[in-house]
Amino acid sequence: MTNLLLPRKTNDGLTGDVKKRSVELMNGVLGTNFILMLKTWVYHWNMVGPAFHQTHLWFNDLYETLIDDVDSIAERVRAMGGVTLSSTTEMLKGALIEEQVGKMPSIPDMIKTLLNDYEVSIKQMRAAVAILDTLKPSDDGDLNFLQDLIMRREKDAWMLRSNLSS
Ligand SMILES: [Fe+2]
Repeated sequence: MTNLLLPRKTNDGLTGDVKKRSVELMNGVLGTNFILMLKTWVYHWNMVGPAFHQTHLWFNDLYETLIDDVDSIAERVRAMGGVTLSSTTEMLKGALIEEQVGKMPSIPDMIKTLLNDYEVSIKQMRAAVAILDTLKPSDDGDLNFLQDLIMRREKDAWMLRSNLSS
C-alpha cells in the first residue's frame, strides 16, 4: 500500500505522525468508496426489470455523488502529504466491501447489497473519526470532512432502506 508521506515538510501545525495516520485512514475510506462507486455504476448499466427507468436514474445520481466524493477523499490524502491507492488492485485490497462479480442481481437485491455497502462505509468512516478524534494535534480538516460525508451517506442509506420497506 502506498501511504508514504512526501519528503517535503510543511509548517501547518500538524505533525508527520498525525498526517501519516490520517493518510492511512483516508486511503482505507478511498478504497471502500472507489469499489462502491464502481459497483453502483455497474448496477446502473446492467439492471433489468419493471423498475428499470426510475432505478437507473436514481443510481446515476448515486454514482455521480460517489465520483465526486472519491475525488475529494483522494485529494485529502494528497493534501496531507500522502500518496493515494493507485490501482484497482490496491483499491480492492484496501476496501471493506466486495466488488460485483459474475451474474447481475435483481434490482431489489442490488438495492439490498448497496444498503449493506453504504452501512459498511458509514461504519468505517465513523471508526476513522473516532481515531482521528484522539490525535494531537487534531487533524480538523479530515475530521470535519468525514463527519460531513457520514451525514450525506446516511441520507442515501435512508433512501435505499426506504425503498426496501413495504
Ligand atoms: Fe449512465
